[in-house]
Amino acid sequence: MSEALSNTLPDTVPDVLAFPQDRTCPYHPPAAYQPLRDGRPLSRVTLFDGRSVWVVTGHSEARALLADPRLSTDRRNAGFPTPSRRFKGLQIRRTALLGVDDPVHNAQRRMLIPSFTLKRTAGLRPRIQQTVDRLIDSMLAAGPGADLVGAFALPVPSMVICDLLGVPYEDHEFFEGQSRRLLRGPELADVEAARVALDEYLVDLIRRKRAEPGGGLLDELIATRLETGETDVGELASMAVVLLVAGHETTANMISLGTYTLLRHPEQLAELRADPTLLSEAVEELMRFLSIADSLLRVATSDIETGGVTIRADDGVVFSTSVINRDEAVFEEPDALNWNRPARHHLAFGFGIHQCLGQNLARAEMEIALGTLFDRLPGLRLAADPDRIPFKPGDTIQGMLELPVTW
Ligand code: HEM
Repeated sequence: MSEALSNTLPDTVPDVLAFPQDRTCPYHPPAAYQPLRDGRPLSRVTLFDGRSVWVVTGHSEARALLADPRLSTDRRNAGFPTPSRRFKGLQIRRTALLGVDDPVHNAQRRMLIPSFTLKRTAGLRPRIQQTVDRLIDSMLAAGPGADLVGAFALPVPSMVICDLLGVPYEDHEFFEGQSRRLLRGPELADVEAARVALDEYLVDLIRRKRAEPGGGLLDELIATRLETGETDVGELASMAVVLLVAGHETTANMISLGTYTLLRHPEQLAELRADPTLLSEAVEELMRFLSIADSLLRVATSDIETGGVTIRADDGVVFSTSVINRDEAVFEEPDALNWNRPARHHLAFGFGIHQCLGQNLARAEMEIALGTLFDRLPGLRLAADPDRIPFKPGDTIQGMLELPVTW
């Protein structure tokens, strides 16, 4: 952070770095973010609409700020940062969990915590293994050769979250398509329509489940939280939308990009194959290295002194997890993929009250999916020029758009 970019900045500054930007390599932060790395712990960046906001890039400042109640996730606040055109002017319905502050947030999160503990998640492992094995059986039967995104990376978490929530998997094309529209548009109208469609779908599913209960988490929440009056249909549907979307989009990207990254790092892949006990450390290191949820968004509700600057009330604040997770002060040789480092204090699952609720589940899915894939397909390799395989743009969750492989 240079003197010139101190807290006296006007609201729009045309000459600072544009943010977010597309990655140049799917597993590294955008090359253009180098000034942000040099400028740790905070810099100013310009959003697509010309607005200037803070970007947090230092690990210790990020931890402190993500735990600071003076930063809000309420998107209805006019100062909330908009990462790209398609989210500008969104007719905001309140997003459960991610889009609410305490005490509302705390009440919502408490309803869900018991279902996402380490113990509950460990109980899901045999089902996850079964799902993964079935999908690999199908790939083997149809192959050799597949698009790993469509054949494996997306259906694994999608089937798991359906199973967990009690959402019928027959509807997967609908909700996967709407989730894609919600996160990638391309237009504002797409994002808004997807929000409405997903909400209506969950409200209708809750209605059907009330008439005919099943055995998923949604049924459990209907019986223990909805019928008791602790929540209402709108809030429950909104929580279910967040779980459904966050539950499959993110993990699918980690599986696709994780596979691509391993295939591009044959030495590390060989180490992992030689010693499968490294798997859980490897998943943690991949989480750090890939940082697929690269911009966490907040708005300040009052002045905050941090890292030698003052964030003013109503300032937009974004956290670049890919830069934070490569902070040399915390991770030695941060640009290297290394199973032997302590990677657990990465911020790829966020930090503070909104820290990922599904992280235990995500870890279990990634371990089982990646471990089984490389075990059962020892000859797995890319079936296209690695530099030409398309990946996702910088203003959404990072991952591969497709991943042609063979074995
Ligand atoms: C590897 C996959 C995943 C990644 C990288 C990831 C990342 C994140 C991050 C960074 C946040 C915090 C966002 C913020 O502070 O603005 C978050 C929150 C959340 N995640 Fe995940 N997530 C993953 C998988 C999952 C899964 C499988 C589920 C559900 C089953 C899930 C459910 C949630 C929920 C509900 C929140 C909001 C929590 C709250 O506001 O209290 N995530 N996730």
